[in-house]
Amino acid sequence: PRLVVVDVDTGTDDAMALLLLLAADAAGEVVLKAVTCVGGNTGLGNVCRNTLRLLRAANRLDVPVFAGAEGPLVAERPITNTYHGVDGFGDLDHTDFPGDDAELDAALQEENAVVALNRIVNENPGRVSLVCLAPLTNIALAVRTYPAFRGQLRDAHIMGGNTQGLGNTTPAAEFNFGADPEAAQIVLESLACPVQLTPWETCPEHAIPLEWRLETLPALGAGGLALQLLTAADRAVNLSKAKTLWTCCDQLAVAALLRPGLVLRTLRRHLTVELAGSRTRGQAVPACVCRGGQCPPACAGPDRRLNAGAPPATILDGFDVDA
Ligand code: BDR
Ligand code: CA
Repeated sequence: PRLVVVDVDTGTDDAMALLLLLAADAAGEVVLKAVTCVGGNTGLGNVCRNTLRLLRAANRLDVPVFAGAEGPLVAERPITNTYHGVDGFGDLDHTDFPGDDAELDAALQEENAVVALNRIVNENPGRVSLVCLAPLTNIALAVRTYPAFRGQLRDAHIMGGNTQGLGNTTPAAEFNFGADPEAAQIVLESLACPVQLTPWETCPEHAIPLEWRLETLPALGAGGLALQLLTAADRAVNLSKAKTLWTCCDQLAVAALLRPGLVLRTLRRHLTVELAGSRTRGQAVPACVCRGGQCPPACAGPDRRLNAGAPPATILDGFDVDA
């Protein structure tokens, strides 16, 4: 089975994506080697704690969790995001998460996430699928710190950015790219492996009715407590805002990795990220001119800063949600 390392800012949709990966791990489809955490939806401490709460609920505290960057590479302050509540899990009462927090703090690895990312990839060259569900700060730091890292991945699956210029955080920026545009640019322009990108615009088209999710979650086999935990967090975040549809971006990215047959349409495009625009900072933009916006496999004209050997990213443009 393929080895997976997932970088998260848990976050209710990160939590759902983690449950999918745990179910795939239990089914022998993947081996979840590690979870690396980064500040994003909430502060790094909450991200680590939410991640460990989820793993404990799924009885998988054996999966190592590493803390990485607290905030973006350059921006002075992280973008605030309260979509998932201030604490990332719906600001529920502590009693909704039974168990001793000291146990969770003890379970967090001492090794830094960036160091661990490189070590695991280095120990398994060409075998690790990197799943990026958060601002790309940890990944950019690994790229910049360890020259071999970018060439040793099997592939990367990134939730972030956009293809039509539409954002969910600013009018032009999707959250993961907007929260750390420099990191997103470094990663998109550096990774030498195949990259599969789930952009923001694809996600609301495949939002999930809450009732449907409550019916199907138990089938993921993650355990009743995990179901209870996520349902509670989701209720706090979404039902309080009278939403009946849940836009679960990170889950879509992982679903595409685990079940490629769900993907209906793709675009192939070299992408980079706008850094300077006063209104467009964080927007994903094409990095080369190809007919119809579709790069052939050996694109002739990518931006010269792009890694010459890098194939264009595969951008997921539509899913078959009925499959
Ligand atoms: C992304 O931003 C976060 O709020 C979600 O967890 C997801 O990774 C969607 O734009
Ligand atoms: Ca996320």
